[in-house]
Amino acid sequence: MNRRLFLLSSAATGLVAATGATAFALTRTPTAALLPWAEAGTAGPDPRRFVVGHAILAPNPHNRQPWIVELTGPTSMTLYCDLDRRLPETDPFDRQILIGLGCFCELARIAATGIGYRLDVTPFPEGEAQPRLDRRPIAHLTLVKDQAASPDPLFAHVAARRSTKRPYDMARPVPAAALSALAALSSPGLDVATITEARMTARLRALTWAAWDVESRTARTHKESVDLMRIGRREIEASPDGISLGGAFLEGLSLVGQLSRAQLADPASSAFRQGQDMYRAMLAATPAYLTVTADDDGRGGTFAAGRAYIRANLTATALGLSMQPVSQALQEFPEMDATRAELDQILGTGRPKRLHLLARLGYGPAVPQTPRWSAASRIRTA
Ligand SMILES: Cc1cc2nc3c(=O)[nH]c(=O)nc-3n(C[C@H](O)[C@H](O)[C@H](O)COP(=O)(O)O)c2cc1C
Repeated sequence: MNRRLFLLSSAATGLVAATGATAFALTRTPTAALLPWAEAGTAGPDPRRFVVGHAILAPNPHNRQPWIVELTGPTSMTLYCDLDRRLPETDPFDRQILIGLGCFCELARIAATGIGYRLDVTPFPEGEAQPRLDRRPIAHLTLVKDQAASPDPLFAHVAARRSTKRPYDMARPVPAAALSALAALSSPGLDVATITEARMTARLRALTWAAWDVESRTARTHKESVDLMRIGRREIEASPDGISLGGAFLEGLSLVGQLSRAQLADPASSAFRQGQDMYRAMLAATPAYLTVTADDDGRGGTFAAGRAYIRANLTATALGLSMQPVSQALQEFPEMDATRAELDQILGTGRPKRLHLLARLGYGPAVPQTPRWSAASRIRTA
């Protein structure tokens, strides 16, 4: 923590003490917003609710949770995109949103194996929407009882998986066996790769920071993120999605008037600068990267990239590794074009290929779960 943040934190702590609330720090956990993590698997005998209860724990951009599941029969469901939960400024073609939906489907499939089912996934049964997603289904999902099948080993790691948005240990390289396990997730048409070579990782650290700076200094793209920030427990519980700025420290800053959406939106404010400093330091502490690249730019490849990414994230979890997508350089708004082209040039992922995910990889600290809307709130009956 730098000196200014330390002073602000002291002010916040003083205020907390002055209000006589030691309990303040102990009560800042957004308990209700985290309940879906504990509730997964407790919804009773309906296998559809079991798999959805786990699938809503999937990683997804800005934690928008863009999924709606319609129960269409005793063992069948249809997955839709909640079109109001997209990110039109930073993700104008809904590419990242679709990756999140791919993560959701693969997590549903993994969860199904935990209760003796196979999940058949039929993507885009009414065709692929272009250039944006529309009301057509993302996938039909059918559960098939399969006594012979054993649980996917990744199922055991669903609750421990995180996107770890913290500095990673630069003195602890990712072991070769872990790199091989991650690369083994490649499939025809989809390449999962890792990057550890010193010159390459240095270039990527610099480029991911440059891309972050572009996004945060472009008013409309930055506003999209700021509008999704939930500051403090009350806001997080009211809207358990978006970017949570929780915990006693940040909530204390907001109470002493040092952290607000207006300040975070203003590049001249100290809150904005502190955010930049923290993000730059985090990106600099990245010993390795993981990429997911499709052979072509179709919706099928994007969806498959999401399915591979959640497997990579869970595999990393199983190996004690941390991961975090850093997507700014991949974004498709005009101000990012030059940075995206540079990234493609560095990685050799230009057309006809399509780089779908760039993620930090390494050993990071334990971090809390992120909020979720309940599974029940994302389910509708046909
Ligand atoms: C396609 C995609 C892009 C993402 N991009 C970023 C990113 O640029 N920066 C970041 O910190 N997290 C990114 N994330 C991670 C989400 O913020 C995270 O999944 C979400 O907040 C839920 O948290 P959890 O994964 O810890 O459950 C991305 C996730 C997905 C699936």
